[in-house]
Amino acid sequence: MNPLTYQKLFQSKTNNAHLVTFDNGNDYVVKLFKPSEDKALINEWLAYCIARFMGLPIPYSYLIEMPKSFVEVFPKGHGTVYTSKQFASKYIANSVNAHETKVENILNYNDMAKIIVFDYWLCNTDRTRKNILLQEQTAGNHFLWIIDNAEIFDSYSWTMNDLENLPQNLIRSATHELMVRFIKEEKDFKIALTHIQSIPTQLLEEILSFVPNDWG
Ligand SMILES: Nc1ncnc2c1ncn2[C@@H]1O[C@H](COP(=O)(O)OP(=O)(O)O)[C@@H](O)[C@H]1O
Ligand SMILES: [Mg+2]
Repeated sequence: MNPLTYQKLFQSKTNNAHLVTFDNGNDYVVKLFKPSEDKALINEWLAYCIARFMGLPIPYSYLIEMPKSFVEVFPKGHGTVYTSKQFASKYIANSVNAHETKVENILNYNDMAKIIVFDYWLCNTDRTRKNILLQEQTAGNHFLWIIDNAEIFDSYSWTMNDLENLPQNLIRSATHELMVRFIKEEKDFKIALTHIQSIPTQLLEEILSFVPNDWG
């Protein structure tokens, strides 16, 4: 998969989400390595793989290798450096965030407890209304996607020591409160927990083995 055309920079907190068209005909949102947020891409990759294992609604994502000459056309000045790999997630077209619409019905309501359990297990303290995407499929009916897992482990720049001392408290998230409204059965939480407990350690090791050395 090779990049063809640079489209735009998304206005966001980190100014590091770039829309790029690839030669497979799809658009992806690409994030580059940033030394000041050195765990952001590792977090995205790890969270993506775990989310896929759990069957969460997350855009298809890849570790990609864009040539340096292509990355040089990206807008400058956001503190990124060139590394061997970048993180790309498939662009979800025709979607809005939770600030931009009123949510009346969620089609994939079955996923809501799973997402909350995932956020707690990985200590994602950034599930804001901007970090879900809502795709209206029929009038008033939205499919909910999760994006931006750059702040799992409570930080995009955690240290080994931080991982030993992650917060255990309730995460304040208006988005979780929104999602909870659509959960039909409490047992969805138990199912999600059982699912997490079945993740093989070897799978986690395998996922980590894909992290390139130049991401630190
Ligand atoms: N897969 C995607 N599909 C559509 N839009 C996306 C996708 N990923 C990111 N975006 C857009 O880019 C913005 C910034 O990306 P995000 O991953 O949230 O990074 P940041 O850490 O800068 O908030 C999002 O708020 C959203 O508008
Ligand atoms: Mg975001």
